[in-house]
Amino acid sequence: MFPTHRPRRLRRTEALRRMVTETTIAPHQLVLPMFVKEGAAEPVPIGSMPGVVQHTRDSLRKAAHEAVEAGVGGLMLFGIPITKDAVGSGGIDPDGVLNVALRDLRSDLGDATVLMSDVCLDEFTDHGHCGVLAPDGTVDNDATLRRYGELAVAQAEAGAHLLGPSGMMDGQVGAVRSALDAAGHRDVAVLAYAAKYASAFYGPFREAVESSLEGDRRTYQQDPANVREALREARLDLDEGADLVMVKPAMSYLDVVRAVAEISDVPVAAYQISGEYAMVEAAAEKGWLDRRRAVLETLTSIRRAGADIVLTYWATEVAGWLRTG
Ligand code: PBG
Repeated sequence: MFPTHRPRRLRRTEALRRMVTETTIAPHQLVLPMFVKEGAAEPVPIGSMPGVVQHTRDSLRKAAHEAVEAGVGGLMLFGIPITKDAVGSGGIDPDGVLNVALRDLRSDLGDATVLMSDVCLDEFTDHGHCGVLAPDGTVDNDATLRRYGELAVAQAEAGAHLLGPSGMMDGQVGAVRSALDAAGHRDVAVLAYAAKYASAFYGPFREAVESSLEGDRRTYQQDPANVREALREARLDLDEGADLVMVKPAMSYLDVVRAVAEISDVPVAAYQISGEYAMVEAAAEKGWLDRRRAVLETLTSIRRAGADIVLTYWATEVAGWLRTG
């Protein structure tokens, strides 16, 4: 008895496989996160993220250019200030590192790419939390919202097209939206970190931004065990006017990406975070994985789960592969 149904028929040649592929990745769907360090004379390699650096103002401009040339969809900027304080003043200062870098890139690139920035305090606070602290040491939600409004306006004024409030404060999307509107920035869009989990995979990022955090973020970021809560967060962000919603991290949360994609009527992004990058790089360095195949497989899985857009530290390189084959 020979089987009648032979799915292998469609796998026989490269051309057949290509014709029936369901999930594709295009350069414009990839967003490159970038770090810029105040006062750096040279780009500083990040040990736990081989190939990723803390940029100087100049090297950032050059790398941004290369990314745009390669066709990536956008850039997401993070700043590393020299001095930090309890309320993250460096983020709001128009001469702060992140705002200066946004101004540089907007003047270099205009509207040729989508310039995005992280609306959060953790890079700018001496205690490393994503918000300001109440006298008892807990993160004060509503006082933080006011700071996020100020951060957002500063970043919009510096030239960002799209702002990513990432601190998981309740009401952050609404607060950022109304601060932007009140300051006349009605056209600046908000990428809501709708579902952001308290993940061990942020480890390398903490090195990348020289985080001073002791303890963890479990009173504001989500419990990795919960998916219903992610849907609630996403719905709230949509109600508050989110223009896009994001799930973060990506790979350990593909079911969450899928669930959010099913309820969202705006585009869905997923952030392939520092630890996801580091895992593949480390294994590849040891010769344990075929690096290029592994990278493409991770991105394909995130797209297959339902993400329209993927933030990935491999964005420029992968965009190059996709163009040249
Ligand atoms: C918060 C923020 C973090 C990341 C992006 N925005 C760190 C955190 O929540 O601890 C992590 C990104 C990554 O790990 O690649 N400003």
